[in-house]
Amino acid sequence: MRVLVGITGGIAAYKAPLLVRLLRKAGHEVKCVATEHALQFVTPLTLETVSGNKVYADLFDSNNDHTTEHISLKDWGEMMVVAPATANIIGKMASGIGDDALSTLLLSFMRKPIYLAPAMNTQMWECPAVQRNIDYLRSIGIRIIDPACGELACGTTGAGRMPEPEEIMQALFTAAPEPDLSGQKVLVTAGPTYERIDSVRFIGNYSSGKMGFALSQVLAAHGAQVELIAGPTSLKISHHKIHRTDIESAREMYEAAVAAFPSCHAAILSAAVADYRPDHAADHKLKKQGAEGMTLTLVQNPDILATLGTMKTAGQTLIGFALETDNESDNARRKLEKKNLDYIVLNSLRDAGAGFGVDTNRVTIIGRDGSAHATPLLSKTEVAEEIVKCCLGRKA
Ligand code: CTP
Repeated sequence: MRVLVGITGGIAAYKAPLLVRLLRKAGHEVKCVATEHALQFVTPLTLETVSGNKVYADLFDSNNDHTTEHISLKDWGEMMVVAPATANIIGKMASGIGDDALSTLLLSFMRKPIYLAPAMNTQMWECPAVQRNIDYLRSIGIRIIDPACGELACGTTGAGRMPEPEEIMQALFTAAPEPDLSGQKVLVTAGPTYERIDSVRFIGNYSSGKMGFALSQVLAAHGAQVELIAGPTSLKISHHKIHRTDIESAREMYEAAVAAFPSCHAAILSAAVADYRPDHAADHKLKKQGAEGMTLTLVQNPDILATLGTMKTAGQTLIGFALETDNESDNARRKLEKKNLDYIVLNSLRDAGAGFGVDTNRVTIIGRDGSAHATPLLSKTEVAEEIVKCCLGRKA
């Protein structure tokens, strides 16, 4: 393909030559269009050497082939990627401003595929005006390669880091499998919760988090932005579309989920949340109480799923899990109604290979419309695929 690479003035511009090289290695033709500020971070000579073409930076450069260079570049290019895309270029695009070579080219390119890889400081990325611009650009079909979380050049950690050039390549050329969830944000809860007894003990459960992590990975592969809220687990996950928040207790998971849900299109609550917690967590290690034993008083935790059910608005999809031992289907359907869910995923307890800790699962996905889809024993990734297709397929 003939690819136009736009480069704007952020520190991540140093990664642009690598992206150009990867594109060339994959057989694409590349022309670079840089802003004046981008050239403070990367030299025209570097970009010209890796792209094999001259760099366009100045609208009125006497070296331009003609004065309407941005129109001829628009005709030449089949796809455009801006990496890094600063808050400034995002704002200009969203407002229809063309005041240099790159911004004018972008305005004339709107009918062809444009990808933006935003990169900036976390506060800038989270700024409501930037997010409004991103939402608008998404709504008119601009594809956003979401920034990754990690260490930023400014010394802080958070969302805003430009994905690695290899990941950008993947986003450019790997069509998201159906259902395409690009532009959708999905909340996932995963793992157990720990309820503190004292400074060294807790009440927990055997959940490993594998199902929720598999769901997050599959959702991201379908193009969704994932808000993963994870209880204590040793599992690791890395994808530029997955934003992970680690919590310990049910109440922390509740706070995080309630805060995240309003901006999400769907929520899948696979965590094994402790229904009760000790009424008091000692801040020191409790001493043995003697042969007569000891009594812990437990108080109820908030039900996260039921709370999201009361918050749910039209257009949001809410999916819960259920572990039942008897009258499985009836109990699951009752839970679906009571908690105002759209789907409930009933875990089988009858299979040796299903449930906590193992890599496989067997579920029945029950819909509000009365549908029931039973899977065979599958890997948790395959089960996650089934859940995504069955519950979010119709929303795509
Ligand atoms: N859940 C939750 N918050 C809780 C308890 C459960 O969000 N405090 C969610 C789980 O993540 C899961 C579903 O509710 O999606 C599972 O509920 P289940 O374990 O079956 O328990 P309950 O609904 O609490 O009902 P019961 O234990 O009485 O069967």
